[in-house]
Amino acid sequence: MAKAAKAHFFCSACGNEEARWFGRCPSCGAWNTASEAPATAGSAGKGGRAPARERASRARWAPAATAGPRPLADVAVSGSERVTSGMRELDRVLGGGLAAGSLLLVGGDPGIGKSTLLLQMAMALARPARAGDAGQRVLYVAGEESEEQVRMRAARLGVIPEALLILCETDLEAVLEAAAQTKPGIVVVDSIQTIARGDLEGSPGTVTQMRECGLALLHFAKATRTAVLLVGHVTKDGTVAGPRVLEHMVDAVLYLEGERYQHYRVLRAAKNRFGATHEMGVFEMTDKGLAEVANPSAAFLPATSDGGARAPSPGIAVVASLEGSRPLLVEVQALVSTSFYGTPQRVTSGFDGRRLAVLLAVLERRVGLRLGRHDVFISVTGGLSLDEPGTDLGVALAIASSFKSRPLLERTLAVGEVSLSGELRRVPRLDLRLREAAHLGFRRAGVPRVQHEEGAGAGLEVVPLASLREAFETLLEARAAEAAAEPAGAKR
Ligand code: TYD
Ligand code: MG
Repeated sequence: MAKAAKAHFFCSACGNEEARWFGRCPSCGAWNTASEAPATAGSAGKGGRAPARERASRARWAPAATAGPRPLADVAVSGSERVTSGMRELDRVLGGGLAAGSLLLVGGDPGIGKSTLLLQMAMALARPARAGDAGQRVLYVAGEESEEQVRMRAARLGVIPEALLILCETDLEAVLEAAAQTKPGIVVVDSIQTIARGDLEGSPGTVTQMRECGLALLHFAKATRTAVLLVGHVTKDGTVAGPRVLEHMVDAVLYLEGERYQHYRVLRAAKNRFGATHEMGVFEMTDKGLAEVANPSAAFLPATSDGGARAPSPGIAVVASLEGSRPLLVEVQALVSTSFYGTPQRVTSGFDGRRLAVLLAVLERRVGLRLGRHDVFISVTGGLSLDEPGTDLGVALAIASSFKSRPLLERTLAVGEVSLSGELRRVPRLDLRLREAAHLGFRRAGVPRVQHEEGAGAGLEVVPLASLREAFETLLEARAAEAAAEPAGAKR
C-alpha cells in the first residue's frame, strides 16, 4: 500500500486533505496543522494514521517546500537579504544585519536588558530610513508586560515609529494569526517562555510547549521569510531555561551578559548560521536604554580611559582577548594573600576556575612560586568574562605580580597561551591585538617567541618570550612595590 503512495498532506485539526503543504489550513483556518501522509493511508481512513499528538509535532518539522530530491546546484538563491538594525554593535554580532526568514534566540539573565535591547532594535527597524518612507513593519509580542508598560519603556528609548505594532498575547495561534494579518517583516516574541499552544497540555515554559511553539515559529519564519526573534530567560547554570531544543532549532543564539550592577552589557553570538560566532557587541545601559560602546577597549581599561596611565601596581595586568574578529583589551586584577583557614580559596569573577587551577599549577611547578597556601582571587573589569587562551599569560603574570608585590612594567601588555610545560603557545591574530594596544598607548608587549615576527610593524616594542618563567623574569619590575602593595595605613 505505502509503496505506490505519493505524499500528500492533511490538516491534523479538521482532517481536510490537500495536495501541497500548507501553513494554514484552507478549510478550518488552523495554523501549522499540516501533516504528511501517504495518499492511500489517507483514503483508507483515519485508522491508518499516527496518534494526533505525534502527527501534530511531525507536521511542525515538515519543511515549507517538499519538492523531493533535486540537484543542489539548481536551488535558487534569493540573495542574502539583510536588514540592518541601525545599531552597529548589534549588526556586528548578527553578521551584518538580520537575515530574512531567520529565527533567533536572545538569551540572558532576567533583568539584564533583553526586552530593552529588542524594543530598541524594533524601534530602529521600524523607523523610516528617509523622510517619507514607511519603515519596516515590526510586530512586538509582549507576553510578560502590558501594552502600557511597553509604551512607557519605548517612550524612554526615543520617538515611537508608526510601523511598530504591539500585541500583548500568550497564545501561539493568536500570535500567528496576528502576524498573518499584519504581515510584518520582523516579529519579536518576548518571551518564548510565556507563549503556549492551547491544544497542548502543560503550562507555558514547559519543554513541550517551548519546543512546539519554537517549531511553529520556525516554520512561520521560513514559510513567510519573516525574521523572528525569541527572547529566552537563562537559568542559573547559564543555559537558556528548559529546553536546549530551542538552541539547536534556531539559526542564531545570542547571549546578553554583564553584571547586573555594572553598566556594561556584552552581546555574544554562541551560534550563528549567518555569521561568525564569538563576535561580540558592547553596550552600556543608560537611562535612555542601551548605548553602543564604540571603543570597548578604552572602556574596559580604567588606566587609559581618562587619557593618563595609572601608576603600575602589583596584581594588575592588561590582556588582549580576541572576541570574534575584534581584539579587546581588558584589565585583570589578581590578589594573592596568605590563607589562614584550611583549604586556600580560589575565587574568580569573569575567569574560568579550572583554567585558574591549571595556571596556578604551572606557576608552582615551572616558575617555582609556592602558591599552595595562598588564597587567590581573580577579577576581570567591567563584568566581562574571558575564555580565550591568549589571555593566559596576562592572568598568570597578574597572579605572580601580586604574589611577589612586583608590578608589571609600565604600559606593557602580555599575550600568549600557557601550556602545561610552561611554554608559551602561539595565539591567533597577534597583529590585531598588538595594533589595538599600540593604538591605546601601550609601549611594550610580551608575546610567544614562536610568532614574535608577526608583531613587527604594530608600533610597539615586541618582547619575544619562550616560557612563562621568562615572562616572569622579564616583564615584572625588578623591585617589590611595597608601598603600593598594601593600603595606606595598613603598615604599622
Ligand atoms: P529589561 O530589558 O526589562 O530586562 P530583561 O528583559 O532582560 O528581563 O531591563 C531591565 C533593566 O534595565 C531594568 O532594571 C531597568 C533598566 N533600564 C535602564 O537602566 N534604562 C532604560 O532605558 C531601560 C528601558 C531599562
Ligand atoms: Mg523582559
